[in-house]
Amino acid sequence: MNAERQLVVVARVLLPAGLDRLRERFEVRVGGLEAGWEDVLANAAGASALVADPSMPVNSELLDACGEQLRVVANFAVGYDNVDLEACKERGVTVTNTPDVLTEATAELAMALTLAAARRMSDAERDLRAGRWGGWDPAAYRGIEVRGSTVGVVGLGRIGARYAELAHGLGATIVYAGRSERPKAESKLGAERLSLPALLEAAAVVSIHAPATPETRSMIGAAELELIGPEGVLVNTSRGPLVDSEAVASALESGALGAAGLDVYENEPDVPTSLLEAPRCVLLPHIGSATIAARDGMASAVADNVIAVLEGEEPPSRVV
Ligand code: DGY
Repeated sequence: MNAERQLVVVARVLLPAGLDRLRERFEVRVGGLEAGWEDVLANAAGASALVADPSMPVNSELLDACGEQLRVVANFAVGYDNVDLEACKERGVTVTNTPDVLTEATAELAMALTLAAARRMSDAERDLRAGRWGGWDPAAYRGIEVRGSTVGVVGLGRIGARYAELAHGLGATIVYAGRSERPKAESKLGAERLSLPALLEAAAVVSIHAPATPETRSMIGAAELELIGPEGVLVNTSRGPLVDSEAVASALESGALGAAGLDVYENEPDVPTSLLEAPRCVLLPHIGSATIAARDGMASAVADNVIAVLEGEEPPSRVV
């Protein structure tokens, strides 16, 4: 390594919108999408900056593999549940994320999943492609309309708030649950804050936008799905561990839950077979932020954060 140039290790990949800027300033080593854990550990040696993503556990083992010169873990995501913040703090390592740039993309995807699940699009398309469509049937694939429904937003942060605006624009009544009051959403959208059980009971659509923490783990299980009910729709674009997938699959099978739209899973990229086989269930492969603008914005935010820390400045989006 050139003594003048610090090493940035990209554990897996970073898009050119960020990578090219890093390459102009630093030595950059990229692991690639196929990098296994042993490759990641081997590549990490000597890193001053580590670029991670939601699929990469940034734990003590990886931090130690980087070495004592490590100064920043730049997560290529707004969520940072994959990063052991305490272990980073102990080593004096800054952690950054990529908020804002993916708000619109993720909120729109949550609304797309809402509409797709509410209108049984997955079953309908699957039947059509399999040659099972026997013609127009007034009783088939009946779902619910967002207009006139109550939409419950769990976690009214940036993405939850934008999703609430979209639902309000379609004519829904908005209720929300979360740790803090959101007076702006209350006055702008007429949103009402409820406890989680009250929200689940009141809402025809429940969309999860809370971060993954020990407190939110399995916050939606069998009892909560019962409250959402046989006509209700559950949407999750946040993180898999918040929702008990087996409980969702069995509630869909039994008819206890109306429909589900999921973009995230506990052990990605594995998706439980029970979900793959469940009816009225739209499943996407973690594409909430997958627009050109959002992903380029995220890559660029990663570069901004790395450059700031390695050049001795405050990063634009520090987590710790
Ligand atoms: C995030 O940014 O946390 C998303 O899950 C990545 O799309």
